[in-house]
Amino acid sequence: MISKKILDLLNEQIKKEFHSAYLYLGIEAYFQEKGLKGMANWFRIQAQEELDHAIKFFEYVCEVGGLAQLGTLEGVTSTYKDPLEAMKASLHHEQYITKSIYTIVDAANEEKDYKTNSFLQWFIDEQVEEEANAEDNVRNLELVKDHPNGLFMIDREMATRVYVPLTPAGA
Ligand SMILES: [Fe+2]
Ligand SMILES: [Fe+2]
Repeated sequence: MISKKILDLLNEQIKKEFHSAYLYLGIEAYFQEKGLKGMANWFRIQAQEELDHAIKFFEYVCEVGGLAQLGTLEGVTSTYKDPLEAMKASLHHEQYITKSIYTIVDAANEEKDYKTNSFLQWFIDEQVEEEANAEDNVRNLELVKDHPNGLFMIDREMATRVYVPLTPAGA
């Protein structure tokens, strides 16, 4: 069994990952309405990945004998000033999620909770990729500024992303 403190942090993280999915669907909605289908596709997949993350935390809590909690999700915006603002919102969110995961790692280390520590390693690596992708998106948009051609190219590139489901634990 894991401590109440770790359990609470993991339960909060379940909610944060669902919230991430919600945030990214809001960004997708923004791009759909703007007719930027490739960017919309990219954020749909991002949202799907976040649901996978939420389930991964959920499964872990169940696996260690804890009671998984599903808190109330707050609404998110579908409105952004421009594509760059939406991309920046996702970058800032990923940085926040990374910090949140580090907080759980610190707590697990303090309590010598090796099991949770080992479980979280996957997320540490995942966040490196998440932040790098979000940074790329911001940088690319900063490069093209408001040039329609550049925006079109980025949109086309982002249309090629495909969803790869997570392999379930033990599979
Ligand atoms: Fe995530
Ligand atoms: Fe993420």
